[in-house]
Amino acid sequence: MAAIKIRDEIRFLLNGETVALNDVTPDETLLDYLRLRRSLRGSKEGCAEGDCGACTVLVGRLSGGKLVYESVNACIRFMGSLDGCHVVTVEHLRGGAGKLHPVQQAMVDFHGSQCGFCTPGFVMSLYALWMKSPEPSDVAIEKALQGNLCRCTGYEAIVRAARAISSYGKAAKDPLAAERSKVTAKLQELRDGARVEIGVGSVRLAIPANVDDLAAILQAEPKATIVAGSTDVGLWVTKHMRDISPAVFIGNLDGLQDISEQDGAISIGAGATYTDAFALLSKRIPALGPLIDRIGGEQVRNMGTIGGNIANGSPIGDMPPPLIALGATLTLRKGKKRRTMPLEKFFIAYGKQDRQPGEFVEAVHVPLPAKGTKFAVYKITKRRDEDITAALGAFHLTLAKDGTVEKIRIAYGGMAATPKRAAAVEKALTGKPWTVETVEAALGAYATDFTPLTDMRASAEYRALAARNLLLRFFAETQAGKAPIQVSRAVAA
Ligand SMILES: Cc1cc2nc3c(=O)[nH]c(=O)nc-3n(C[C@H](O)[C@H](O)[C@H](O)COP(=O)(O)OP(=O)(O)OC[C@H]3O[C@@H](n4cnc5c(N)ncnc54)[C@H](O)[C@@H]3O)c2cc1C
Ligand code: FES
Ligand code: FES
Repeated sequence: MAAIKIRDEIRFLLNGETVALNDVTPDETLLDYLRLRRSLRGSKEGCAEGDCGACTVLVGRLSGGKLVYESVNACIRFMGSLDGCHVVTVEHLRGGAGKLHPVQQAMVDFHGSQCGFCTPGFVMSLYALWMKSPEPSDVAIEKALQGNLCRCTGYEAIVRAARAISSYGKAAKDPLAAERSKVTAKLQELRDGARVEIGVGSVRLAIPANVDDLAAILQAEPKATIVAGSTDVGLWVTKHMRDISPAVFIGNLDGLQDISEQDGAISIGAGATYTDAFALLSKRIPALGPLIDRIGGEQVRNMGTIGGNIANGSPIGDMPPPLIALGATLTLRKGKKRRTMPLEKFFIAYGKQDRQPGEFVEAVHVPLPAKGTKFAVYKITKRRDEDITAALGAFHLTLAKDGTVEKIRIAYGGMAATPKRAAAVEKALTGKPWTVETVEAALGAYATDFTPLTDMRASAEYRALAARNLLLRFFAETQAGKAPIQVSRAVAA
């Protein structure tokens, strides 16, 4: 490998200014930096866990050479992840000749600023939406505001403001649009291909120059904390005060974010966010679209990665069960060596995955469901949006010509210490006619597969019953040649 250039500072744009910092710690959040070091106090701290959206700012990043601006939660975004990015805070919003920005003016005129505290966060989420979609549908507005909680008055006034923004100005003439090529050039200049190393002793962070460099860093520092989108790791710091040093930041790492379709499978680089993967996944495996739409809010999906969801190994992570049901495989890398395994084998026990020190998840490969097979995934939560799974079931059925079950893969989240296949239920169904009698007879096998727990999300009894009912629902929805029904925003509204 050619010698890697090492830099001892992160460089990024903050509003209209270029910033270079050599004194960031692995756990310094963007929100703390803005409020405490820069006195930019428009972004607020509500929950400090990515739920309420009061801290929302925009981050512009180069994705495939193109500049994209996305809403993110500054409270769980670490400074180490901002190298080569453009941070835009509410203070940067401006209209022409001393006027308010169109988003702000619409919020004023439609009385969208109610408590006031959460308003800058709402404004930034609407700003991101307006730039992407100047005439958004109500469904798009609702999706953009999933990660901004109003608990005082309600969303009606805010939604009315969102519908009206374009009558106050043109998104194409917005300063961020007008300065796009200038900012792109600047970010390209900042991304100089160097590895970043900051800190000494017990407080250190690194940003690899590329994927090979990541492999080299992890071999030298096998116990380092890998930080991708930090939507899990962020909370280790803000809620559990955990020490994550030395931390290796892999978000925005070229070569780890690729998403491609080849030979009947989609490969997703471990650094690809939900937002990056959404278009291809929801087009080629439609049942995954509504599921991804219900993972966190827009800000979380803009930061969080599918690789992080898998690597974290949570029994209630939403992506492993459907990917297991689809027969996905996982590629891990340590140094130059790679190994690939069926995804379900990665999850060994609660908090224990088959990952050696110094090894990292490189990509997940998802076979496309074959024509004529039926695939569905159902997420059960207390509220539809921005809620963590109580139980989640994924079903992938292949019927033989004579109507018997040739193959079925069923996987659940929230039912065991790991994401897990319902092996006994699968066995009870395989080779039998796909009839209600077969399905009802197989329900007893759930007790062999799962002994769910009671926690704040659901009781053990509820989970056990819900899991069985999901199979019944899947059966009902596969009848008469119909595709399984997925709860989507448009249908549910
Ligand atoms: C408000 C909120 C709502 C959420 N809602 C949901 C939800 O509805 N459903 C759901 O499933 N999750 C949810 N999450 C959890 C989280 O968003 C996901 O698990 C996400 O996919 C994690 O990805 P990340 O890139 O942020 O991972 P990080 O937080 O950066 O990392 C998570 C773990 O994976 C490790 N890791 C990351 N990348 C790699 C790699 N390439 N190789 C090896 N290890 C790696 C890290 O060291 C860490 O242990 C939510 C989180 C928040 C804050
Ligand atoms: S402070 Fe609540 S999401 Fe950041
Ligand atoms: S407008 Fe801020 S909580 Fe409702």
